[in-house]
Amino acid sequence: MMEVLVATGNEHKLREMRHILGSGFKVLGYGKRVKEDGRTFEENAVKKAKSIRPKEGQIAIADDSGLMVSALNGKPGVKSARFASPPTPENLCTKLLRKLGVRNGGRGAKFVCVIAVHYPSGRIKTVKGICCGKIINEMRGNKGFGYDPVFVPRGYRRTFAEMRPAMKNRLSHRGRALRKLKVLLGER
Ligand code: IMP
Repeated sequence: MMEVLVATGNEHKLREMRHILGSGFKVLGYGKRVKEDGRTFEENAVKKAKSIRPKEGQIAIADDSGLMVSALNGKPGVKSARFASPPTPENLCTKLLRKLGVRNGGRGAKFVCVIAVHYPSGRIKTVKGICCGKIINEMRGNKGFGYDPVFVPRGYRRTFAEMRPAMKNRLSHRGRALRKLKVLLGER
């Protein structure tokens, strides 16, 4: 079975990865602190994936993700995790709602996830997943993490925090990126 070393200390991300990658992969968290000072999701994901050196039969992956809100010119973007401190869902969502203010239009947003893969050969590849939707006016639901309580994916009524994990994973940026990763790994 292929071992996937994931450069993250985020238990929520790990759980989603295990669920989406399925039983063919052994997903192991690898909590190494890496400074996320890149300007793009790609830069940060590659930097994190390179911090782990996989052996034969292993790959290292890193997810860099975030929320881009149109009315805030793409913010909080790569700084999503540091938008409020401590970065609890309550703090992140409250700050975002305050910045957006009360408005009916202009609440468009997208979640972005870039996953970088580091192979034992030293080669690096990236895949990207996007989930479009909108930011609602209040927090709803208590599942998931981060901005899940204020994000409703396009074509749906529930927030990510109100959905069963399987449903979120089917629609989410991370789910989309990870399914592309599975294809990539199958092709090797
Ligand atoms: P990073 O990838 O570790 O820089 O952190 C990304 C941040 O974006 C997380 O800490 C969350 O605040 C936010 N984020 C990324 N993916 C999700 C998601 O699936 N739901 C809610 N928030 C997310």
